[in-house]
Amino acid sequence: MTAFAFRDGRMFAEGVDVPALADEIGTPFYCYSTSALTANYRNFAGAFPADALIAYSVKANGNLAVLRTLAKLGAGADVVSGGELKKALAAGIPAEKIVFSGVGKTRAELALGLQAGIHQFNVESEAELETLSEIAAGMGAIAPVAIRVNPDIDARTHAKISTGIAETKFGIPWTRAREGYARAAALPGLKIVGVDMHIGSQITELEPFGQALARMSELIAMLRSDGHQVARADAGGGLGVNYGNRMPGLKIADYANLVAQFARDQNVSLILEPGRLIAASAGILVARVIHVKDGENRRFAILDAGMNDFLRPALYGAHHEIVCVAPREDAPMESYEVVGPVCETSDSFGAHLLPRLRAGDLVAILMTGAYGAAMASAYNARPPAAEVVVHGKRWSIVRPKMSDDEHLRLDRIPDWLA
Ligand code: LLP
Repeated sequence: MTAFAFRDGRMFAEGVDVPALADEIGTPFYCYSTSALTANYRNFAGAFPADALIAYSVKANGNLAVLRTLAKLGAGADVVSGGELKKALAAGIPAEKIVFSGVGKTRAELALGLQAGIHQFNVESEAELETLSEIAAGMGAIAPVAIRVNPDIDARTHAKISTGIAETKFGIPWTRAREGYARAAALPGLKIVGVDMHIGSQITELEPFGQALARMSELIAMLRSDGHQVARADAGGGLGVNYGNRMPGLKIADYANLVAQFARDQNVSLILEPGRLIAASAGILVARVIHVKDGENRRFAILDAGMNDFLRPALYGAHHEIVCVAPREDAPMESYEVVGPVCETSDSFGAHLLPRLRAGDLVAILMTGAYGAAMASAYNARPPAAEVVVHGKRWSIVRPKMSDDEHLRLDRIPDWLA
């Protein structure tokens, strides 16, 4: 996280003094670094053959400023809803670089993708094939299709983000993929362009990828022998990052070599869908201590950011390092359970050793650029944290925090209750 470094005892985001920024705009807020996003994207993209499509997974962080930053670097997008498709297009990502994944695309969303002329639909069921065919034929369009195949491989990651085993809702079982492709070839309005997989997220070992790609290789051979054109392979996303609790054990170069070798062997062009790896280390969540309080057997630091702002610890038991943004030099280290103000025991960011805290102190929760703001909610009528992007010494609020009054006005009272 070199974009967030300490100078004279204060945290800087690139050239921006974080405590000063917090005083100016208030807390909590996410802060994203342009240089970190850029470096993460370039490190990843640079590891693959030049013709590979790097389709950034918008779900990790769909802020328009983040998407625009990546668009300028040449990124494509992996989207899973009409909303994400519109955001990717609005940020300047060309339709020819957009792939559309997801188990439950509606008719309206499929039509939107067809109208935009996207690069590829990653189709996840036989039913979706039929629907897409019907809509495309009705529009006089041809939908470029890859079938997302469920290879039944255990990615050995958190159960809630493991998507490649047979029990999950994702993709068409690989045992049925051949029939799926035969069906696709027989339907009007569809053009088979390739194969697709995505076996999970925060994967920290190479083997599951290797196993899944071996299955994909078998499948490609079978499909070609059936007479299908398989020009592309989408290997999905899923590369884990180092959240500080365990070493990732996975290097981009090793993963890229594995995938590039597969692409050469199979003579396919590659699509990759990284999300977390691009965005996670590019963001922090800055919050202020509201109170410090002693429980029966532990000391709580209560922040003005809660599980509504940042859900990963509550939902997955995820560990994220927390640091003081402007620690006092003489402060002794103490143990805290760092929590939010939300009325749930799960609203906790875990146990942390921190310089002694007082009300008003600023902390930063690290590695929160991916699946942070993207998963925020207004639970407890708490509008989610603002989002800021820094670029050198410049900063800009790229999503303001809604005021309580603005949030209040989202609801309507029906006339019979007026
Ligand atoms: N492609 C598809 C089809 C996906 O479903 C996902 C993530 C990705 C790509 C990007 O995966 P990544 O490179 O970011 O691992 N909220 C969870 C993560 C859920 C991931 C869902 N799919 C978390 O905070 O850990």
